[in-house]
Amino acid sequence: MPARISPATRLQGTIRLPGDKSISHRYAMLAAIAEGTSHIRNYSTGADCASTLGALESLGIRIEREGTSVSVAGRGLDGLRESSTTLDAGNSGSTIRMLSGILAAQPFASRIAGDESLSRRPMERIMRPLEAMGASITAREGRFPPLEIHPAELRSIDYTLPVASAQVKTCVLLAGLYARGVTTVREPLRTRDHTEIALREFGAAIDVRGRVISVQGRPRLEARDLEVPGDLSSAAFFLVAASLVPDSVLRIEGVGLNPTRSALLDFLVSIGADLDIRDLRMQAGEPVGDLEVRHARIRGGVIEKELAAALIDEIPVLAVLGAASEEGLVVRDAAELRVKETDRIATVAENLGRMGVSVEVFPDGLRVPGRQRFHGAEFDSFGDHRIAMAFAVAALAASGESTILAPEAASVSFPDFYRILAEIAQ
Ligand code: S3P
Repeated sequence: MPARISPATRLQGTIRLPGDKSISHRYAMLAAIAEGTSHIRNYSTGADCASTLGALESLGIRIEREGTSVSVAGRGLDGLRESSTTLDAGNSGSTIRMLSGILAAQPFASRIAGDESLSRRPMERIMRPLEAMGASITAREGRFPPLEIHPAELRSIDYTLPVASAQVKTCVLLAGLYARGVTTVREPLRTRDHTEIALREFGAAIDVRGRVISVQGRPRLEARDLEVPGDLSSAAFFLVAASLVPDSVLRIEGVGLNPTRSALLDFLVSIGADLDIRDLRMQAGEPVGDLEVRHARIRGGVIEKELAAALIDEIPVLAVLGAASEEGLVVRDAAELRVKETDRIATVAENLGRMGVSVEVFPDGLRVPGRQRFHGAEFDSFGDHRIAMAFAVAALAASGESTILAPEAASVSFPDFYRILAEIAQ
């Protein structure tokens, strides 16, 4: 059912966010192949992370859920069992790409598929390194899900990633756990390092030297009790909303502030956001803190090169902020946006257009001129969670009421998004 969003006069309150999506996937997968039962608190409530749990259950792992806590009864590196059904990754690129690293090393076959959006996303980026390790994988048209993963024994590899992708890095490192010897991944740009941190927490021998990451094969992983920090990529919607709407003051508690993710905060501050970090602490190797954000005059800026990779998930909502800024926002070197849950360059431009905001589209980005007004409009999530939430934020700053078609897409990462928004909006 479409959702209606009214303009807000201010945002105020203290909120906590669901567990980080990236970290939740990694903790669940590592817990499944560790020895003993891991307890994970504040596990992401999003459908994507539920897809990971569902797939692990199909592989013979017992999982108990209580609220946002999950217990995963790990069966060790060699404890997974052949699934009697196709594994369902749903909308989740992380599930299919990262889990395939584990599946490729099993003595049994697996088939893994996803929804219509996932079925259009490129998989050759994981197939190439896995095949070089000895895996045998068949894909639709050679590159799209479903993937048929045949039994294989893997050898270690020294692999240079052609695209900066934490999902691909993770896939190769997880496969490397099953190979004898040391598997090394070289990144063109530093990407989120939650896998490296989580592997260390679960007891793997992992070595990180700049952009070169090596893992020793055949470790004994041990169950852990862990709490997932709040998702900074979900916080991004509220940070932008509070920056946009006059008189807003918002506190977001317990947010993951890993430096490979927090470029968002530095960028927001560099363009004029009024933002403070309080009570910075460490949680299982991950920095966590509370954020305070107030309405501010935003100058606008440029996102390109390494910054484009570091902010890739936040660009839709930053494009919204750019339209209301003084000088606008330019995004370049972000062609990866075209192969996300939707072509996010196209879907952002389409919805901005529907709100009366002019935008110029490039093959690898877009330019949103500043000092523009949002008109209340009917826009579409196009089934993409980050597009739904980015434009819900735009609707708060619009001149009239807006309607979002297919708003439920938000539940892929953040089922409570609209409820929390309604609580803080006045
Ligand atoms: C993720 C990595 C990024 C990001 C995605 C989550 C991860 O994708 O866009 O939302 O958890 O490793 P890529 O690896 O495709 O860049």
